[in-house]
Amino acid sequence: MKINDIAKSLVSKGKGILAADESTGTMTKRLNAVNVESNEKNRLTFRHALFTSKDINKYISGIILFDETIRQKKNEETICEILNKQNIFPGIKVDKGAKKLAGSKETITEGLDGLRERMEEYFNLGAKFAKWRAVYKIGDELPSQNCIVANAHALARYAAIVQEANMVPIVEPEVLMDGDHNIHKCYDVTSNVLEETVNQLQIAGINFSGVVLKPNMILNGSSSGVKNESKQVAELTLKCIQNNLPPEVPGVAFLSGGQSEFEATKNLNQINKQNKSSFIFTFSYGRALQQSALKTWAKDLNDIETVQTVFDERSKMNSLASKGDWIEDL
Ligand code: 13P
Repeated sequence: MKINDIAKSLVSKGKGILAADESTGTMTKRLNAVNVESNEKNRLTFRHALFTSKDINKYISGIILFDETIRQKKNEETICEILNKQNIFPGIKVDKGAKKLAGSKETITEGLDGLRERMEEYFNLGAKFAKWRAVYKIGDELPSQNCIVANAHALARYAAIVQEANMVPIVEPEVLMDGDHNIHKCYDVTSNVLEETVNQLQIAGINFSGVVLKPNMILNGSSSGVKNESKQVAELTLKCIQNNLPPEVPGVAFLSGGQSEFEATKNLNQINKQNKSSFIFTFSYGRALQQSALKTWAKDLNDIETVQTVFDERSKMNSLASKGDWIEDL
């Protein structure tokens, strides 16, 4: 399959992406928070439960995996084989995390060294798309131009290597919601970040039809004390993305970034209600798809069926929101 077609399928109507690519460190934090031991077997059991839920292929087009998961098997089948059987594209997180940017308090995402060879291996393991996350924090004078340019450049180099390996790069510049800034500051910073990211992708000769953008929504800082109003979130998010994204990009799949499951669904729904453009806006959620399922699992590690029902319900709500069809008390 050509990368343009994979990118289109990833954002096809009513479907979104499950981000299940938490590094072992992050997954350990998530499991420990609900008093579950983090070991290879538990990480696989939980993820396998999600990946084989009854309705997953109605709502989920692709799943982003972590290196550990793409190498795991359940009942002699690899995770990629399990996903392929359900017409779900396997994807892989390939960045090595946000590390200290020299001379500043900010971060630069690393992982470019040896990436071409790793992509070849992931391709052979069955991955069809990849993800790289850049992180920007809002603060006094932050993010710096250095942080914005360095991370955009890394995203572009990553995207070029991924396309060269015949896979779709998910480009994820995440402006964090941490901080006491207001929504307009988030708008300005996200605009600058997207503008520079697109600029660097252009310089690197990226085929925009074979890319999925994974941005943050435009929100008030989480410690600002201001409650987000969905209509305003949608209006500013649409304006910010439409002003910066080349029309060739087939779709946008938002990260949830610490929003509650409910907020992430509500805001996505409002975005789609207001969307008058040809851009597709869907989800690529981690926490906002998994939180309730994980809490449910922690209550009884043997009750996989209830975990799957809870996960299917969340996926369905986000699928409806990706079409602007979600109704609050469904
Ligand atoms: P959240 O939806 O939990 O922000 O995770 C998405 C993701 O892939 C972060 O890199």
